[in-house]
Amino acid sequence: MKVTVVGAGNVGATCAQIVAEKNIVQEVVLLDIKEGISEGKALDLWETAPINYYDSRITGSTNDYSKTAGSEVVVITSGLPRKPGMSRDDLISINAGIVKSVTENVVKYSPDAKIIIVSNPLDVMTYAAFKTAKFPKNRVMGMAGILDTARYRAFLAEALDVSPRDISALLMGGHGDTMVPLPRYTTVAGIPVTELIDDDKLNAIVERTKKGGGELVNLMGTSAWYAPGSAAAQMVEAIVMNQKRVFPCCVLLEGEYGLNDMFVGAPVVLGKNGVEKIIEVALNNDEKKLLNDSANSVKGVMGVLDGMNIL
Ligand code: NAI
Ligand code: 2OP
Repeated sequence: MKVTVVGAGNVGATCAQIVAEKNIVQEVVLLDIKEGISEGKALDLWETAPINYYDSRITGSTNDYSKTAGSEVVVITSGLPRKPGMSRDDLISINAGIVKSVTENVVKYSPDAKIIIVSNPLDVMTYAAFKTAKFPKNRVMGMAGILDTARYRAFLAEALDVSPRDISALLMGGHGDTMVPLPRYTTVAGIPVTELIDDDKLNAIVERTKKGGGELVNLMGTSAWYAPGSAAAQMVEAIVMNQKRVFPCCVLLEGEYGLNDMFVGAPVVLGKNGVEKIIEVALNNDEKKLLNDSANSVKGVMGVLDGMNIL
């Protein structure tokens, strides 16, 4: 089985490394437009196999999509990352052009692939890939919710001084400052988080989560890659191992949560067919309002993209 990661930058190379270390596929192909970078990173990563004990072969390709042919899953990370002062939406026109051309090549060589988009602005780039690929909706999805819940879970683990493994959480909406962490659906080994932390601390963690991407951009001068690469690799694993994991992912909603014809984060079951099911949980009025506000913000960016006539 083959998995391709397009974009051998920070997120793409990390994702390729983690997929290889999981030892779940025969081949990981890393592709980039910059001459030599993917071959170099693939070689460097392959040289970690004898140290880290895995068999997945990692190969690099400078923009030659024939090497990606027959991929089961393709992760698209190509595009500009956020720089200080840039919103995710500032990236729209450049990244939409990149996602469109990359998706066309992916579809040509891997017509049965599941596509996972990472490039920002995430929800709208996933919509761009879906429109370009013309694949069924279960085979095009975006990575954001696993990353955003991971940040939320990490902050909670720190505040409660418990293992992050025991924190289970749900977060919905767009991958932006309007994302909707859901404390009512957050537990610590089954115990509602609201029983363990006071409202002020919890609200501060929710607010920090919403700005979690920006916090890292401000610290590093570019956006994060370890957690994003790990999150994308976890989606790859769920699909290639047919794990039926339940994760928040960016998916096409057609009436679920009262939202239509847009990509936004919601809980799904991930398995060999990609998005196997969208789970609808009950939201109270406050949560519904937050989700609608977030969806409206994504729709605004979709409108900007539609107005550019790139797709
Ligand atoms: P990076 O700059 O390190 O890597 C991007 C790579 O894409 C570069 O190596 C570049 O040469 C390549 N590239 C550009 N155009 C290409 C094309 N047409 N074909 C193939 N490769 C091409 O950026 P980084 O940090 O890896 O971020 C990648 C994207 O992921 C950005 O848009 C960033 O905003 C987004 N991101 C999304 C997250 C999410 O939660 N969905 C989290 C973190 C980053
Ligand atoms: C992140 O959340 C910027 O989307 C990027 O780290």
